[in-house]
Amino acid sequence: MQDKVRIGIIGCGAIAKHTHMHGYSKLNEKAEVVALADPLQSNLRALGALHSVDTQNQYSTYQELLRRDDIDAVSICTPNYLHAPQTIDALRAGKHVLCEKPMATNIEAAKAMVQAAEKTDRLLMVGFTHRYMQHNQTAQQLIKQGSIGKPFMMRVRFAHDGPYNSWAATTDWFFRPEQAGGGALLDMGIHALDICRFMLGDIAQVFGHVGTFVKDIPVEDSAIVSLAFENDAAGYIEVGWSSKKGVLGLEIYGSEGTLIVDYTTPIRLHQSGAGQEWVEITDAVNDAAVCEMEHFVDCIVQGVQPSANQLDGFTAVLLAEAVYQSAQTGSAVSLRD
Ligand SMILES: NC(=O)c1ccc[n+]([C@@H]2O[C@H](COP(=O)([O-])OP(=O)(O)OC[C@H]3O[C@@H](n4cnc5c(N)ncnc54)[C@H](O)[C@@H]3O)[C@@H](O)[C@H]2O)c1
Repeated sequence: MQDKVRIGIIGCGAIAKHTHMHGYSKLNEKAEVVALADPLQSNLRALGALHSVDTQNQYSTYQELLRRDDIDAVSICTPNYLHAPQTIDALRAGKHVLCEKPMATNIEAAKAMVQAAEKTDRLLMVGFTHRYMQHNQTAQQLIKQGSIGKPFMMRVRFAHDGPYNSWAATTDWFFRPEQAGGGALLDMGIHALDICRFMLGDIAQVFGHVGTFVKDIPVEDSAIVSLAFENDAAGYIEVGWSSKKGVLGLEIYGSEGTLIVDYTTPIRLHQSGAGQEWVEITDAVNDAAVCEMEHFVDCIVQGVQPSANQLDGFTAVLLAEAVYQSAQTGSAVSLRD
């Protein structure tokens, strides 16, 4: 590998622009985006122009980009149904992969991705952006340090007004079941399920309720999940695409204290026996996109597994499928089998 990790971006829409390209562009010493691929010329040309990737390095098929042997790694930023075939092709072409979430639209495709990664010495990281937010990094550290004693309950609320109102998606796949694989649960709930595992460990059982309450779309715009952790704790998730302003973040309750991780304010910590005052943790807010891309690049250089690898991606899809199954049957689904 040369001095810098050489990156190709597959899919040049909203996440490619706002997170991946943005993140890599701040890693001048470590990484360089050298090629882009997207069949939609307007997105391809616009991203290239914004970050000086010239037209000779812009491709309308991802296969052309993968054929270049001077590219070490790719970011896959395409609609969900393309993640599995593109990731598998990229791994087979010898590239490290950072694949956007959800890793796949179903568990069979996710399993094929895990198998493809296990057959190579390349990394497969999944884009669980919330892990890299300073709020969540700090909260996880506080939990590990025992600041709230034994955590026994957590609540997560990740909701906004949907992919074309609150998120600036550029093409119209989000509401197509065959391309998206699901609605708000697979899109936002996958982050919530992952951040629950990040904070409190593996999940043993889920019970879900999904519905389309506001938008006229063929996938769910809202979901609620209750969960039981392996580690003797319970959790509760609310996600949605039809939410105007509201709470955005996490609450974690422990035997000795409470953490309120509201994304719009500093973290608040309350510890029993510490004067019973709330303490604000005023960590500088980081740029999670830069941290995420830097983590990917550092893991490639150091040859170590990323924080969210293929097994984390697979587990999140498995959990989401279990929630859909639970919502359909009206029964809790165990993940212990
Ligand atoms: N990590 C996060 O928080 C987060 C946030 C938003 C979106 N995402 C994920 O990012 C992915 C893309 O979402 P988006 O909002 O950027 O969508 P988007 O519609 O804005 O962009 C998708 C891009 O993929 C391109 N594309 C389609 N087929 C292609 C192909 N065969 N080869 C290459 N490019 C192709 C489209 O032309 C478009 O430019 C989704 O998986 C989504 O779930 C993640």
